[in-house]
Amino acid sequence: MPKRPHIIWESEWSTGHQEIDRQHQTLVESLHRLQVAVDEGRGDEELGWCLSFLKAYSRVHFRTEETLMAAFPEYDGTDHIAAHQRLLNQVDDLFRRFLMGETQLPESTLETLETWLLDHIQGADQALLRDLRASVSPIPDPTAHTAK
Ligand SMILES: [Fe+2]
Ligand SMILES: [Fe+2]
Repeated sequence: MPKRPHIIWESEWSTGHQEIDRQHQTLVESLHRLQVAVDEGRGDEELGWCLSFLKAYSRVHFRTEETLMAAFPEYDGTDHIAAHQRLLNQVDDLFRRFLMGETQLPESTLETLETWLLDHIQGADQALLRDLRASVSPIPDPTAHTAK
């Protein structure tokens, strides 16, 4: 019996960007797997797999968002990128401590990760896509001039 509900993807967290939403779902699923591993005491191998996946995939995902930001030179992504870096530092630290034998992940750490991810998706990420979408002019209809 879990101590608290495990995280499950909710459609309201969508940014409307297909690839970013797919990656967010993968991150949510990997955190879910980590929560299950901790709550059900699935052992060090599973815990290590979850942490190393989270560490690697967070990088892949943040790179996707930062590449998108870079395509809009007028967009100031400084704070957003700094938030990504802080999370990467935390996950790296968690993984290092695991490798050094700290294999008991406290409940508070899981809660911190979940809160960070959900706040970030519903805050910075949804705002990013909203802002970028607003800055793109609609593509003109190339056939419009012939329709007379
Ligand atoms: Fe994101
Ligand atoms: Fe982000």
